[in-house]
Amino acid sequence: MGLVTGACLADLGHSVLCIDRDARRIATLEDGQVPFFEPGLADLVARGRTSGRLRFSLAIADAQGCQAIFIGVGTPPDPGSGHADLSAVFAVAGEIASVISGFTVVVCKSTVPVGTGDRIEDILGSNGPGSQFAAVSNPEFLREGSAIHDFMMPDRIVVGTADARAAAIMQEIYQPLTAKGVPLVVTGRRSSELSKYAGNAFLAMKVAFINEIADLCESSGGDVGDVARIIGLDSRIGEKFLRAGPGFGGSCFPKDTLSLIRTARELSTPLHLIETTIGSNSARTATMIRKISAALGGSVAGKTVGVWGLTFKPDTDDMRESPAVPIIDGLIEAGADVQAYDPEGMANARAAGSRARLCEDQYDAAAGADALVLITEWKTFHHPDFARLKALMRGRAIVDLRNALPREEALVHGFSYAGVGRGTAGS
Ligand code: UDX
Repeated sequence: MGLVTGACLADLGHSVLCIDRDARRIATLEDGQVPFFEPGLADLVARGRTSGRLRFSLAIADAQGCQAIFIGVGTPPDPGSGHADLSAVFAVAGEIASVISGFTVVVCKSTVPVGTGDRIEDILGSNGPGSQFAAVSNPEFLREGSAIHDFMMPDRIVVGTADARAAAIMQEIYQPLTAKGVPLVVTGRRSSELSKYAGNAFLAMKVAFINEIADLCESSGGDVGDVARIIGLDSRIGEKFLRAGPGFGGSCFPKDTLSLIRTARELSTPLHLIETTIGSNSARTATMIRKISAALGGSVAGKTVGVWGLTFKPDTDDMRESPAVPIIDGLIEAGADVQAYDPEGMANARAAGSRARLCEDQYDAAAGADALVLITEWKTFHHPDFARLKALMRGRAIVDLRNALPREEALVHGFSYAGVGRGTAGS
């Protein structure tokens, strides 16, 4: 998020300095490389560097004189409490406190629980009564894989501050986007902080909802694709985030829903719907494993399962909270051999100690398999060579956890096909 924000702001015409304390990361960027996979980002960073508007540094002191300083450090869940770990945010705020001189807008873009802005303000203020600053909340709504598009064409920009001078600077920063018609909402800092969590929780709930409807489609003979399309055409509901699958993952939905219910419990305002959403999503792993077992005649023991897709969604190399991990672990624990391939996630899967045998390519992952399971809907998997799969695989079971494969073609080639929420076809 930090690099995308920096590179996009530079592309909008601002002079941007990206600071990270990881010397290797900065060296990689100085070398013209981007240290993770995000479509279009390498070109955008290169353009920023060529223009001279995008620079990198290891020292926060170099931010002295900047009108605005964005905080974009991680807020991972604390393993014990599930709370967002804010230590990096507060540490960086402390460092910023020592470099601000003239009026500086300190913008928190990291996803932080409601009220965190107040603490950032206290830390910045500890520099002495003379320092002039405003602690502003400006949540990001970037999706991995389409982060540049989401930055450049957002549905809205949210600025949380009661300080008119800070609001004016934020409006100036985002002027190239608001000039194109993007709404910029100025609100209180707490509403801004809450809006990020409320938005993510709502989307997570939508995904969990359609997944439960998918289960009902299976037991009743409906097709979740049709049901989703029909309800999505109701403009009050909307068509997005109604794709049934193996459950939501990634660095945001699982973490943010957990953090939100912790905050809510502390404030004695339980969020029953979000608690249920988390439980419903966790139950997805067992449901998916049962589906794979059923496709293999009731048990995966002694079977070889080929897996296509390891990342939590396509167009990213991010494995964080990917549904593929517990599904693969569950299959292995039930006695299966798992062999897997992902177009971009192999290095991270290896680093995370994936228990699957990691394969050279998608067909290698299918070789000798009794069942082929698609977990992440990368485009490259959408139109497989079924004749080749038939020659390579030992069995004939295809389990499509994203409804991304051409079912009819699979059936014509003699495969069995199990999707998600696709009951008896045509009934
Ligand atoms: C999300 C938010 O969309 C973004 O606004 C926020 O800034 C960060 O968190 P991201 O985690 O990149 O973005 O992915 P997203 O596209 O929202 O998908 C999250 C998870 O939900 C993925 O595992 C995805 O596969 C799943 N999903 C999404 C579905 O299963 N079905 C859907 O219809 C949509």
